[in-house]
Amino acid sequence: MTKIEWDDSLSVGINLIDEQHKMLIDRISDLSKAVDAQQGIQEILKTIDFMLEYTNFHFSTEEKHMSRLKYPAMNDHLQQHDEFKNMVNTMIEDWKEDGATKTLSNSINTYLINWLYNHIKKTDVEFGQFLKKQGYINIE
Ligand code: FEO
Repeated sequence: MTKIEWDDSLSVGINLIDEQHKMLIDRISDLSKAVDAQQGIQEILKTIDFMLEYTNFHFSTEEKHMSRLKYPAMNDHLQQHDEFKNMVNTMIEDWKEDGATKTLSNSINTYLINWLYNHIKKTDVEFGQFLKKQGYINIE
C-alpha cells in the first residue's frame, strides 16, 4: 500500500485549502486501506462515496473562489477536477463488477494518490499563489 499523508510540502499557503486537503487525503487513505484489506463491496462503496462527497465539496470551494475572482487558469483547473471525478466514477463501476481486485488497489495507489499529489503541488499551489497575490489568505 502506498502511504498517503499530508506534510508541509503539500501546503498551498491558504489555510482553508490546506485543511480541506488534509481531510481529502485522510479519506483517500481510508479508501486505500479498505481496498487493500479486501473489504466487501458495500463497505468499499460506502468509503468511496464518503471520499467522493468530500472531493465534490472541496472542488466546489476552490471553484467558487476561482469564479468569484475570475481566476485566469480556471478552465484548465476545472478540467483536472472533472478528470478526477470521472476516474473515480469509472472505478466505482469497476468495483461493482469485479470487487476489490489487485488492479483496483493499484489504481487507487497509483492513480488517485499520484493525481492528488501532482494536482496539489502544481495546480493548487498556482491557485494559492494567485489568491495570495490578490490578498486573500483567509478565504471561507
Ligand atoms: Fe484542491 Fe484543485 O483541488
